[in-house]
Amino acid sequence: MKIAMVGSGYVGLVSGTCFADFGHSVVCIDKDPAKIEALNAGRIPIYEPGLEALVADNVRQGRLTFTTAMRDAVAQADAVFIAVGTPSRRGDGFADLSFVYAAAREIAQSLSGFTVVVTKSTVPVGTGDEVERILRETAPDAEVAVVSNPEFLREGAAISDFKRPDRIVIGAEDERAAEVMREIYRPLYLNAAPILVTGRRTAELTKYAANAFLATKITFINEIADLCERVGANVQEVARGIGLDNRIGAKFLHAGPGYGGSCFPKDTLALVKTAQDAGTPVRLVETVVSVNESRKRAMARKIIAACGGQVRGRTIALLGLTFKPNTDDMRDAPSLSIVAGLQDAGARVRAYDPEGMEQARPLLPDIGYAADPYDCAEGADALVLVTEWDAFRALDFDRLKAIMAEPVVVDLRNVYWSRDIAKLGFSYTAIGQKM
Ligand code: UGA
Repeated sequence: MKIAMVGSGYVGLVSGTCFADFGHSVVCIDKDPAKIEALNAGRIPIYEPGLEALVADNVRQGRLTFTTAMRDAVAQADAVFIAVGTPSRRGDGFADLSFVYAAAREIAQSLSGFTVVVTKSTVPVGTGDEVERILRETAPDAEVAVVSNPEFLREGAAISDFKRPDRIVIGAEDERAAEVMREIYRPLYLNAAPILVTGRRTAELTKYAANAFLATKITFINEIADLCERVGANVQEVARGIGLDNRIGAKFLHAGPGYGGSCFPKDTLALVKTAQDAGTPVRLVETVVSVNESRKRAMARKIIAACGGQVRGRTIALLGLTFKPNTDDMRDAPSLSIVAGLQDAGARVRAYDPEGMEQARPLLPDIGYAADPYDCAEGADALVLVTEWDAFRALDFDRLKAIMAEPVVVDLRNVYWSRDIAKLGFSYTAIGQKM
């Protein structure tokens, strides 16, 4: 199959590369000449484990190319994927679809032969209808079908999520288009990945419902964690105790500082807005959004409490800044609220992150950046684990105790619980367990 991927950001680049790896011929397109130049030179603009090698391999095999010019790629394609950004619109939180519609207008001008136009970007219900309207208005004679094919990739695990998906959702109103999509994904469902062909609106809503459900699960266990701290229970054991029930499932029950990233915060807000507009508010998700926001701010208060109630003039060392490990993504990271709260209380903040510091600098210009975890902890009054990078799992706590001003550890990811660092003389605060 010949595929054109419009938008070579996170989703476009990962999906395009994996499709090429299945053996399809893929052209990734982006408006940004610097990005395309970098990709053509073998440089990957994002941090995603395994992606660089996979891109290089598929470029070498001649299945994957990059360009700023849409025309030829679209004209030759069996399927054109739209994988451009849908950021939250300022003001009302609704997804900003201007990039999607602009892409549709441009695609329409180059269509030739039967082409399936696929929305891969996360888009609100009804976007496919509008894309179809734009295509038919701009190119009334084109033979085109519009399909929704949401992605369920996690940053940091995107390639394996793409190649071993729990399911593939295809929202198509047209059997011929559904057949093209089945052909594109054939290598996967030969591996027994269930493929669900639904109506287009159903596919669009499935994506939002999935992310909102996962965000709800995390927020639920976070509130149970607060309760555990009050009543003397252990949230990890509670999570295990409920997660072993197959109806609940063990995943996404890790209590922490609140969810962040480029998806859950944006998608929960967009779902709330869609539902309000439809006159059927999703009140549970509205609550999840507000509980998660206050939780991120509450984490600074938790750290201050662990420091004896005041941090003015003290140095707090943060390990991890990105919203989760194995990414350099800082979007809506809990660390942003934590730093703001600590600085408001008069603390000096120093941080170390294995991959995220370059992205963090413009967002957090007035904190110190350390060269490694020990440099970060040197002379600090508290060490806070914010993001559970593997590199932070096996720290030398004897060494840390010797270099810190105060032996205070706040573990917002419950990573050190089993190491019993309190025995080494640390004051240790975790999530959802009474000390
Ligand atoms: C999420 C979904 O997991 C993907 O299925 C989806 O495709 C993607 O959004 C998207 O819509 O594009 P991602 O945002 O990359 O993926 O990261 P997750 O691993 O889901 O983590 C999101 C946030 O939840 C992180 O801040 C993480 O620390 C937090 N989290 C996750 C918890 O606090 N506890 C958990 O048990 C799991």
